[in-house]
Formats: sequence, C-alpha cells, structure tokens
Amino acid sequence: MLFLRSIPIGSPTTALGLATHRLLAIAFIIGLFTKHSLAEDAGNLYNTPFDVRAGGNYFEKQCSRCHGFDAKGNDEVGAPDLTGRLRRASSSAGIFNILRSGISGTAMMAVDPNVPDAQLWQLAAYIESLGSDPANVQLEGSAEAGAALFAGAGNCLSCHVVAGQGGRLGPDLSSIGTQLNPDELTLALLEPSAEVAPRWWTLTVEDKSGKVYSGLRMNEDSFSVRIMDQQAQLWSFARSQLVRVDRSETSSMPSYANSLSDSQIDDLVAYLYSLRPEMMP
Ligand code: HEC
Ligand code: HEC
Repeated sequence: MLFLRSIPIGSPTTALGLATHRLLAIAFIIGLFTKHSLAEDAGNLYNTPFDVRAGGNYFEKQCSRCHGFDAKGNDEVGAPDLTGRLRRASSSAGIFNILRSGISGTAMMAVDPNVPDAQLWQLAAYIESLGSDPANVQLEGSAEAGAALFAGAGNCLSCHVVAGQGGRLGPDLSSIGTQLNPDELTLALLEPSAEVAPRWWTLTVEDKSGKVYSGLRMNEDSFSVRIMDQQAQLWSFARSQLVRVDRSETSSMPSYANSLSDSQIDDLVAYLYSLRPEMMP
C-alpha cells in the first residue's frame, strides 16, 4: 500500500522512469529495515473513507478492550474518551506519534513495531473522524431553525445550492458539513473574506466605452477575461477591449457578524454542519 502510493501515477516508462522506480524500491526496502521514525505534521495521506474504515476495524481488534467499542473510554482502566478533543495530540501526526511511542508510565503501550506506518495513519484517521462525527459533537444551535433561516430570511439560497436547489454565486454547500468543522463554519459566516479560494475572487472591468462590469472571476488568461455577474450571467471580454481589470480577493458574501444574532449564527452552523451526504462508502 505504502509502496504503491509512492509511485507517481502515470509516470512514463522510460529509462528514467524505471530508474526512479528502482530507487523508490530500494528506498522502500531500506525503509523496511530502518527504525520507525516519528512523523512530522504533513497531513495524513491515509484519510479516505476506506482508510477510516480500515482504521476502525483495527481499533475494534486492538484498542476497544481499553477505550471501548465506541471509543468513549473506560474509567476502570483509565483509558480516555477519544471522540472529543484529545489531551495529548492535536493532529493526525500527534496521534501517530502516540501510537508509535506509547505514553510511558501508563497502560497505553506503543503499537507492535511490525505494524506498518500506513496502518497507524489509518488508525489516526479513524480517531480524527470520531472528533468530527456529528453524533459526538454537541452544538448550541438548532439545525431546524438554521434550515429555515437559510432558505428564508437569511437569503443564503440566493447564492448557494443545497441538494440541487439555489443560486450559483457561491459554492455548493450540499456536503459542507464534511468539509468544515463548526469553528470554521462560524468563521465563514462572520469573516467571509478571511480565506477566499481564487474561484471566488471578483473582477471589475471597464471597457473602452467606459462601461463597468463586475462579477465572479470565472476565467482569466493573457487574452481574455470571463466573469459571472450578480444575475448569474456570463460575460466574456477580450483584454484588448478593456482599459481596466481590477481583481479583488475578498469574498462577495456579506459578513453576518452584525446582521444576525449569536443564536442565529449558532443555528446556521448546526444546520450547515448537518449537511453531509448520508452515504459514506
Ligand atoms: C491496555 C489498555 C489500552 C489499550 C489496549 C490502548 N490504550 Fe490508548 N490509552 C490507554 C490509557 C490508559 C491512556 C491514557 C494515558 C495517559 O495519558 O495517562 C491512553 C491514551 C490514548 C491516546 C491519547 C488520548 C489523549 O487524550 O491524548 C490515544 C490517541 C490512544 N490511547 C489511542 C489508542 C489506540 C489507537 C489503541 C489501539 C492501537 C490504544 N489506544 C490501545 C490505554 C490503552
Ligand atoms: C451574495 C452571495 C452570497 C450570499 C447571500 C451568501 N453567501 Fe455564503 N458564500 C458566497 C461566496 C462567493 C463564498 C465563497 C467565498 C468565501 O469563502 O467567502 C461563500 C462561502 C460560504 C461558506 C464557506 C464555504 C466553503 O467551502 O468554504 C459558507 C459556509 C457559506 N458561504 C454560508 C452562507 C450562509 C449560511 C449564508 C446565509 C446566511 C450565505 N452563505 C450567504 C456567497 C454568498
């Protein structure tokens, strides 16, 4: 598994390509004989739904006798609840390192050194997934009230699609609950411009006759510019037609810090966090 993933996909089978593969194979074999090293936090590559499930299976066999089948811990053995914020790790790498090294002086032993890194990453992914499982997260707001606000007075549907319904001036939020955690969702509502993907930057252009157009930046290259205006209409311009192109990297979504109350924000966050496609394969 580890080996397969380290081969660049679609690399040409030229002499160079083969040489690279051979080097990777050698590195892999050396890896087998070197002592396991601890992880830096470069993110977990093993966090697909498949990995999470594999981690869950392993957890059931090796960890549940102390931490419980639901990972909620066991007071008798002093094994803590792993479904909320962890005391000793704040990332996948942190969990990985606990599993590799154990916690000295406690019943939490290092995992058998013969267990490959990939399997520990899967375990870490499983434990991280517990922290974001809606069943384990207590939110202040009411998802029902949030749904009503979203579609009604909040007017969010004018820009966002949920389950096929809504406007196209903002990202589709149908599965936003799997992408952002409650803190990130709150930030998205209070400070939309804190982090804006280039897809949602806006352009203001002025043509030679002095007409000004403004909208989402759909496409931009050396010769042309395409934008989508507030009515979701597309406009294309040749750069040679334009006297000015201003780019704004802020969000076209208003901040709701002042226009909505704290409890309305909580309701929206509860609703948004509940938006996750039922099926996790
Ligand atoms: C023999 C009982 C036992 C087994 C088996 C066990 N643990 Fe633990 N685990 C503990 C105890 C006790 C602690 C708390 C140690 C401390 O911090 O005092 C702990 C702590 C942890 C922590 C840190 C929690 C935190 O809040 O920082 C993680 C993560 C963890 N275990 C994961 C696992 C995983 C994954 C497995 C299976 C590979 C496993 N444990 C197997 C007893 C166990
Ligand atoms: C004028 C159009 C507009 C309105 C109205 C609007 N949004 Fe947005 N929204 C956007 C755009 C554009 C983005 C992407 C840029 C950004 O991250 O702010 C966005 C981003 C978001 C994100 C983050 C999505 C991500 O993938 O990071 C959330 C959550 C969100 N909006 C929720 C809401 C809610 C809830 C409302 C109603 C209270 C609302 N929006 C109203 C345009 C809008």
